[in-house]
Amino acid sequence: MGLHPRGARDFFDALVALGFLRRVDGKYANTPSTELFLDSRKPSYIGGVLEMSNHRLYGFWNHLTEALRTGQPQNEIRTGSESPFVALYADPARLKEFLSAMSGISHGANVAISEKFPWDRYRSLVDVGTAQGDLPVTVAQRHPHLSCAGFDLAEVSPVFEEYVGTNGLAGRVAFVAGDFFKDPLPPADVITMAHILHDWGLDEKRMLIRKAFDALHPGGALLVYDSIIDDDRSRNAFGLLMSLNMLIETPAGFDYTGADCMNWMREAGFTGTRVEHLMGPDSMVVGVKPA
Ligand SMILES: C[S@@+](CC[C@H](N)C(=O)[O-])C[C@H]1O[C@@H](n2cnc3c(N)ncnc32)[C@H](O)[C@@H]1O
Repeated sequence: MGLHPRGARDFFDALVALGFLRRVDGKYANTPSTELFLDSRKPSYIGGVLEMSNHRLYGFWNHLTEALRTGQPQNEIRTGSESPFVALYADPARLKEFLSAMSGISHGANVAISEKFPWDRYRSLVDVGTAQGDLPVTVAQRHPHLSCAGFDLAEVSPVFEEYVGTNGLAGRVAFVAGDFFKDPLPPADVITMAHILHDWGLDEKRMLIRKAFDALHPGGALLVYDSIIDDDRSRNAFGLLMSLNMLIETPAGFDYTGADCMNWMREAGFTGTRVEHLMGPDSMVVGVKPA
């Protein structure tokens, strides 16, 4: 990197102190973790969220005060009330950056889901609002018996197919194009919704849960995950800040507690609801459709 000498040493040493680099004999190199997760040429790269924060979110958060005063989003849709995805997806470069950021945010929780859920009892998975498809890819890699698909808006298809191909699963993880406000969800034994419900208002949240109930085979399960806020709303600071991010990014979205989500699931007919921690701030809420 061509840096001006003034500050360069402090910059690299700060990265050493933060644990992003190591210094050996006066030379700087990645640590094993940054080598794996922050090299953008590798499929294990999770830095997309940092790129998106640089390009989009930091600027939008300058308008937090206005968002708190008006309740209006402060991103690309600042003056309108359309779906936040319409503005974002009008630009293919932003679309790819956003979808790749989602994989970075979600990969750790997707690994946890692939390890914690009893996948051997089920045969098919549809991930609703799949973005690049990191959830079905991660589950398919560890559970080859499952038939896995990702459901999302048609514009997402090329980015999904590229990601699935990079992970060596072309033909194993399918893309289903659709709009979850207009189309029924594809039938499956397990339906997952990762970082979906928090994008929408209460009516849409309830509607999506009902649609999942209708699409599931009897005995099937819905797995919803977000940065689920603790029921006392006093501990999951990340979840509460994420909810403020939904204020800034969407017309009506908000994050929610496990108790909230279990109630919406029970209203839709789900039984056996439970909350299970995944990783970091993320937990999943599980509901079972009676057999
Ligand atoms: C916040 S991202 C979550 C992505 C992914 N599940 C994750 O957790 O990394 C929301 C996803 O919902 C998709 N989406 C938004 N509106 C949709 C719609 N009407 N029908 C289907 N998918 C939609 C977006 O394209 C995007 O991939």
